[in-house]
Amino acid sequence: MTEEMATMPMTMADLDEVMEVEQASFPSPWSRQAFVRELTDNLYAHYITARAGGRVIGYAGMWLVMGEAHVTNIAVRPEYRGRGYGERLLRRLMELALAGEANRMTLEVRKGNLAAQQLYAKLDFTPQGLRKRYYTDTNEDAIIMWNDDIAATMGMKDAGTGAGRRS
Ligand SMILES: CC(C)(COP(=O)(O)OP(=O)(O)OC[C@H]1O[C@@H](n2cnc3c(N)ncnc32)[C@H](O)[C@@H]1OP(=O)(O)O)[C@@H](O)C(=O)NCCC(=O)NCCS
Repeated sequence: MTEEMATMPMTMADLDEVMEVEQASFPSPWSRQAFVRELTDNLYAHYITARAGGRVIGYAGMWLVMGEAHVTNIAVRPEYRGRGYGERLLRRLMELALAGEANRMTLEVRKGNLAAQQLYAKLDFTPQGLRKRYYTDTNEDAIIMWNDDIAATMGMKDAGTGAGRRS
């Protein structure tokens, strides 16, 4: 069952739970200090948490720089995956990017991370480059993906332009 989910800006008070999700989600998790730096020192950073049933069940973050959004992180608690929460987190980041006057979004994804690639493809990201052996922990390549028109993905363009995607 999909529980009611709310997104809000990430705060220091979220970090214990964010670290649980982080450690359950990535082969080389970020340190707590890395999140603290993002929340306190990085003017370009925007991080959100998703809550359901009173707990943090996922989070996502990006940097907004010169009209472009660079996704740094997105993860959902393993037991909550496959229920639409990841997609909703990414759509929320897109809304925030548009609010910050960025209409393009990019990210890197491990070549072997097919679930994430499917999510990004669903939201109109296309592969536009490769960074060989980008991930030093496994020597895996990174696929660079871009969505060049977030407003179209979010259905915020007039029908008839051919750009809007209704879902
Ligand atoms: C990637 C991740 C955030 C997706 O979150 P999620 O809540 O499970 O995803 P959703 O349920 O919202 O799925 C949205 C879409 O993603 C794709 N998807 C999600 N899980 C998938 C899977 N196991 N296999 C294939 N496609 C998958 C599908 O296209 C899905 O749409 P659909 O339900 O209409 O088929 C989650 O798997 C995760 O936390 N992974 C570990 C961390 C990670 O790899 N982050 C990305 C780093 S680049």
